[in-house]
Amino acid sequence: MENLDSLKTELMDAVNAAADLAALEETRITALGKKGRITAMMKGLGAMDPDQRRAAGQALNVIKDEVAAALDARKLSLEDAALDAQLAEQRVDISLPVRPEQEGRIHPISQTIDEMVAILGEMGMTVAEGPNIEDDWHNFTALNIPFDHPARQEHDTFYLPGDVEDRKVLRTHTSPVQIRTMMQGKPPFRIIVPGRTYRCDYDATHSPMFHQIEGLWIDERTHMGHLKGCIIEFCRAFFGVDDLPVRFRPSYFPFTEPSAECDIGCIREDGQFRIGRGDDWMEILGCGMVNPAVLENCGVDSTKYQGFAFGMGVERMAMLKYGIPDLRTFYESDLRWLRHYGFSSLDVPSLVGGLNR
Ligand code: DAH
Repeated sequence: MENLDSLKTELMDAVNAAADLAALEETRITALGKKGRITAMMKGLGAMDPDQRRAAGQALNVIKDEVAAALDARKLSLEDAALDAQLAEQRVDISLPVRPEQEGRIHPISQTIDEMVAILGEMGMTVAEGPNIEDDWHNFTALNIPFDHPARQEHDTFYLPGDVEDRKVLRTHTSPVQIRTMMQGKPPFRIIVPGRTYRCDYDATHSPMFHQIEGLWIDERTHMGHLKGCIIEFCRAFFGVDDLPVRFRPSYFPFTEPSAECDIGCIREDGQFRIGRGDDWMEILGCGMVNPAVLENCGVDSTKYQGFAFGMGVERMAMLKYGIPDLRTFYESDLRWLRHYGFSSLDVPSLVGGLNR
C-alpha cells in the first residue's frame, strides 16, 4: 500500500496544477480511471486481512471523494476561465463607426423633412399622412377652391382617366390631408404633413413631382399672433440664424382668410443667396387663418374653433439651406451627387443635438 497521505498530496497538487481541461482530464484518469492509482489501490484491498482492509478502505474512500470534489471544482474554474478568454478575444466593439465604404447616404429631401419634423414636433405637432392619389373633393372642393380656379386646369394638374365629376387626381398639394384629418377626428388638431405632390411643370426650379410640408393648428383660441410666432421660430431654427428677419405679406388662398406669404431675409450676391440679414427677401411659404368655410366643410364648428395653416416646398428649403443650385439634381440618382450633398445615417436631426452642420 502506498503512503496514503503522500498520494493525496500528490493527486491534489496535480489537480490544482492542471492548466487546461485536457490536462485535468489526464489527471482524472491517472487518479480515478480504470487503471488509475486510487482504483488500483481499491483493487489491492482484497489481498489484505479484514481489519487492515476496513481501515485502509475507509481512508481510501475519503481520499477518493476529496480528489473527485477537487476535480469538479477545478473543472468549473477552468471552464469559466476558458469562457472569459473567449469573450475577451471575440469581443465586439460596438463603439466602432460603420465602415465608410459601406455607409449609405441620407437624401437631402429626407434629411430636410426630418429636420422640419424635429422642429415642429417640438412645438407639439404630430405627423399625419394621406394618399397621393386624391379625389377632386379633398384636393379642391373641400378646400374652397372654386371650379374655375387655375389650379384645377388640365395643363397644371395630373388627372387620372375618369368622369370629370368624380375623377381622381395626383394631389397638387398636401392640403387635402387637412380635410382628411379634420373629418376623421375631433379638435384640437395639431398636425404636420410631409409628402409628395404633383404638378405639370418642369424646369430648373419646378419638377412634376416635388415635396411639401403642411401645417394645421386648430383649437378654440389660436390666432394670427400664434401663426406668426410659430413660423418665425420655425424659420430661425431651420436655418440656424437666431436673428433671421421674417416678414409676412398679405396674399390670397381660397382655404385661408386672411392669407399671407412669408419671406425671409437674404443677401443676393452673383446670383447666389445667403440667408440672414440683408436687403433682399426670399419667399418661402404660404399661410393664413383657416377659412371658416373649410372648417364647416369638415364638420368643425367654425363659431367655436379657429386656427392657422401653412404650406411650404421642401426642395426649395433644402436648396436654400444647403446651397443646392438645381432642383432637377434631386431626382437624378447620381451617387456622386448623393455623396456630396447626402447625410450620414448617424446624423439624426434633433433640436438638442443641433440641426445644423
Ligand atoms: N397649398 C398651397 C400650395 O400648394 C400652400 C399653402 C398655402 C398651404 C397656404 C396652406 C396655406 O396650408 O395655409 O400652394
